[in-house]
Amino acid sequence: MKFILSDVKLINLPKIEDPRGNLSFIEEEKHIPFKIERTYWIYDVPGGEIRGGHAFKKQLEFIVALSGSFDITIDDGIEKKTFSLNRSYNGLYIPCGLWREMENFSTNSLAMVLSSTLYSEEDYILEYPDFLKYKGL
Ligand code: TYD
Repeated sequence: MKFILSDVKLINLPKIEDPRGNLSFIEEEKHIPFKIERTYWIYDVPGGEIRGGHAFKKQLEFIVALSGSFDITIDDGIEKKTFSLNRSYNGLYIPCGLWREMENFSTNSLAMVLSSTLYSEEDYILEYPDFLKYKGL
C-alpha cells in the first residue's frame, strides 16, 4: 500500500495522572495499528545532528519522545510536514514508504521507536532519487 502524508498521525496515548508521577502505555494493535516486532531508541544525539534520512519499504513505525524534544519531517515525495515531539503521552505513527528525517534533538532527548518488523537492511531506501522512483514520481 502506498501511504501519503495525511496517513501520518500524531496519536495521543493513555495518561494515568497520579501525584506519585504519571504513567502512559501502548498496546499493540490497540493504540497503534500494528504488532510490535522491534523496539529501538536513539539517545546521546550531539547538537545539530540529523538522524533518519531514508524511507522504509515495509516497516511501520511509532515514535515517542520519552524525554526531551525533537522534530520529525515527513515527506511523501509531493509534500512535507514537520512534527515536533516533546511529550511522553503521544507519538507519531509513520506508515511505510515515507521519507523522514529527525533533527533538533534537545539535550538528553530520548526517542523510542516501535517497529512492525525486525531490522532488515533491504527495507531501507537510502537515496532520495530512489525514493521518488519507488513512489512513481
Ligand atoms: P539507522 O536506521 O540508519 O539510524 P537512523 O535512521 O536513526 O539514522 O541505523 C543506524 C545503524 O544501526 C545502521 O548501521 C543499522 C543499525 N541498526 C540495527 O542494527 N538495528 C536496528 O534495529 C536499527 C534501527 C539500526
